[in-house]
Amino acid sequence: MSKALIKKRTDFQRALLAWYQAHARVLPWREAPSLYKTVVSEFMLQQTQVKTVLPYFARWLVALPDFAALAAAPEERVLKLWEGLGYYSRARNLHKLAREWVALSTKPCTPAEWRELPGVGPYTAAAITSISFEAPAACVDGNVVRILARLTADATEFRDSASAAKLLAPLAAAVLPRDAPGDFNQAMMELGATVCVRRNPLCRTCPVREFCAGARSGTPERFPRLAAKTMERRAVTRVWCEIRGALLLHRAAAGARRFANIHELPTPAQAGLDTAAATLGQLLAKKRRSITRFQIIESIHIATARRKRIPRDGVWIPIPDLDAITLSGPHRRWINEILAARQR
Ligand code: ADE
Repeated sequence: MSKALIKKRTDFQRALLAWYQAHARVLPWREAPSLYKTVVSEFMLQQTQVKTVLPYFARWLVALPDFAALAAAPEERVLKLWEGLGYYSRARNLHKLAREWVALSTKPCTPAEWRELPGVGPYTAAAITSISFEAPAACVDGNVVRILARLTADATEFRDSASAAKLLAPLAAAVLPRDAPGDFNQAMMELGATVCVRRNPLCRTCPVREFCAGARSGTPERFPRLAAKTMERRAVTRVWCEIRGALLLHRAAAGARRFANIHELPTPAQAGLDTAAATLGQLLAKKRRSITRFQIIESIHIATARRKRIPRDGVWIPIPDLDAITLSGPHRRWINEILAARQR
């Protein structure tokens, strides 16, 4: 089916671009666009929805308005501005990228040059360079995979979204117009976010319905076919250890792969408690979350400590000072809930 789409690509591009010009959401990185706004927005939008990103983007641009300001900022400030967005390696990479970009005498403008910079994979390189430099590079993420698989009623069972992106990259490149790659990529993102959504796609208002074999089949939701993820369950115990108004937190070491310098409620081992279950007190909260292929149930128990020992990577933070440090998003939420519950 992809041949049929490629044959009609000029009409397809025209229909999609006309719809985008008329219906694109007004987004802050699209108004008076700049390379810096594009880079920051693309980092924030990796694995995160537009509505979540909006307040972060607004605060970020006030605090760190350009590459030079970001390059000069200390890491704590950068992480604090990112707090709650998750995937903190994005913030650290964006910070490093700004430092490298500022130092470069010849600034990068091709996808290959951008991919040399920290945190820039094929999708982000294509997004940044097509939007900022009109580079003819197609963006292929989960949204674009969905659109292309539906347009062509592609019945392949993909192992996962990443392998689908690889397999569909040639088709994405074939339908990309050379004269408007940035707008076309953003139009695809927009279509995936607002019309060609995962469940109940809005085919009746779709600007490219006439090109869509999936819509013609009557069941476009069937595409793309992705192999079922096998989820693994994990149980994690966390402790609430408080002495004289200070809470014990674990701060991953600066060189840690994940969560470096980000605070979380400690596990019993991180809190220096050796016999986990035996020393645990009241269950304060039980939280479920999914991270990649893990389904995690975290139980937060009171643990009593008689004196303020400081375990490795442990810090005692007075409760009124919690706002000033960077906590991971879920831990901030849980701590606030636990503190609010005891006010009642
Ligand atoms: N997702 C990734 N990049 C985006 C952009 N520039 N606009 C809207 N959604 C996006």
